[in-house]
Amino acid sequence: MLLTVKGVTHRHPGGTRDVLRDVSFEVARGESVALTGESGSGKSTLLHMLAALDHPLRGCIEFGGQDITALSDKAASQLRRSHIALVFQQFNLVPALSVADNIALHAKLGQRFDASWTEEVTARLGLSELVGRYPEQISGGQQQRVAIARALALRPDLLLADEPTGNLDETASAEVLRLMLDLVQDTGCALFLVTHSAAIAARCASHLHLSGGQVRVQST
Ligand SMILES: Nc1ncnc2c1ncn2[C@@H]1O[C@H](COP(=O)(O)OP(=O)(O)OP(=O)(O)O)[C@@H](O)[C@H]1O
Ligand SMILES: [Mg+2]
Repeated sequence: MLLTVKGVTHRHPGGTRDVLRDVSFEVARGESVALTGESGSGKSTLLHMLAALDHPLRGCIEFGGQDITALSDKAASQLRRSHIALVFQQFNLVPALSVADNIALHAKLGQRFDASWTEEVTARLGLSELVGRYPEQISGGQQQRVAIARALALRPDLLLADEPTGNLDETASAEVLRLMLDLVQDTGCALFLVTHSAAIAARCASHLHLSGGQVRVQST
C-alpha cells in the first residue's frame, strides 16, 4: 500500500474540538481518490497531515511503509521534494520567482527536474506564454495552474491537491483533471484530490467523504 492512515485524530492548538476523529483509510499506487466534505470539515487539515506538514495528535500515517508522522522538518521537506507533491488551496507560489522558475522549483530542489516533461506540463496547462511573468502579473486561475504545474513537474508518487480546480472555468477544470488522471495512468502515481464538485469526484476511482471528523467511503 502506498499510503496507510490509521486512527488519525487531530485538534488544532487552541481548538475546542477534534477536527479529525479516528480517521483510517488506504490509498494504493495508481489509485485516484476524491475527498469531499463541507467547508470547515477538516479536508485541508487532513491533506496537510498526508504531506507531513502537520503532525496528528494520535494515530499513524505510513507512506511507502514509513511512518511520516514523526519525521523531522528536514526529512519531511525532502519527502515533499521527491515523492509527495502538494497543490495548496492558496497556491503558495514564490512571488520573487518567474512562472517558469516557480514551476521548476520543487523538481530542481529534489533533483528530479526533466526539461521536456516540464515543458509539456507547462504547455498542457496553457502557461507557455506566461513563463517570463511573475505571480502578481497573472490571474488567480493562472496562478492555480502554475501551482498544479509545479506539482506535476516533480512526477510525484503521491499527488495531493486541495481544490485544484476551484478558480478555473469548466474547460480549464476538465483539462487539469485530465492531466492529473493521465499522470496517474502513465506513471502509476496516486492522486488524492479535495473537491466540492460531484462531477470531479465521480471521475476518480474512489470517493471519501469527511463529516463530523470521520471519513466514510461514498459510493459513486
Ligand atoms: N491552524 C489552525 N488553528 C486552529 N484552527 C484551525 C486551524 N486551521 C484550521 N482550523 C479549523 O479547523 C477546521 C477545519 O479546517 P480546514 O481548513 O481543514 O477545513 P476545510 O474542510 O479544508 O474547509 P474549506 O472547504 O473551507 O477549505 C475549521 O473549523 C478551521 O477553523
Ligand atoms: Mg480547505
